[in-house]
Amino acid sequence: MIIAIDGPAAAGKGTLARRIAEAYGYHHLDTGLTYRATAKALLDAGLPLDDETIAGGMARKVDLAGLDRTVLSLHEIGEAASKIAVMPAVRRALVDAQRRFAQKKPGAVLDGRDIGTVVCPDAPVKLYVTASAEVRAKRRYEEIVEAGGRADYGAIFEDVKRRDERDMGRTDSPLKPAEDAYLLDTSEMSIEAAFQTAKSIIDAALSRNA
Ligand code: C5P
Repeated sequence: MIIAIDGPAAAGKGTLARRIAEAYGYHHLDTGLTYRATAKALLDAGLPLDDETIAGGMARKVDLAGLDRTVLSLHEIGEAASKIAVMPAVRRALVDAQRRFAQKKPGAVLDGRDIGTVVCPDAPVKLYVTASAEVRAKRRYEEIVEAGGRADYGAIFEDVKRRDERDMGRTDSPLKPAEDAYLLDTSEMSIEAAFQTAKSIIDAALSRNA
């Protein structure tokens, strides 16, 4: 079973993906971390973010088993990741690794931007999780404040919009719902309600496949 979850930054897809993986005993891959790990490796090595050959070479070295969410969650790394994510050589290398991960038994949940459209176009379950830019910025803001940090809502809101433009506007694998994806708008929905909706879609797919 492959479950593909796509959507813009901070829409709640990561939380939902983890919850689903836990409930069904499936493997989970946050594919954003693979782009982040590539960007961080370039930054750490003092290499440029705008050289496709160098970035593609770095992407091929990313080890999916060693992705550390805490280290990679920094905002600057997310920005750098979305810059190198426009490069076809980077995407090809990471997509190959993601497709291998998707074959894991008994099932895999992958979340990202292009899982249902490019990485696993035949996934039996595709969810497109979205929320308004205001709601997503507010969630990011509250996350930072609750963790004891300081945040500027206006700056976060501008960031969210800029990241959307970059992810939706690129030529290679732009962020968009697959034609057969189930749209889940979490603007006014709790994570529990989103999970229950996802669960009924997954259970229906499992009984079709049985
Ligand atoms: O989801 P996250 O914010 O960690 O992703 C960081 C960046 O990586 C995104 O803004 C996007 O540009 C890129 N990405 C992508 N395709 C994916 C996952 C992430 O292009 N499947």
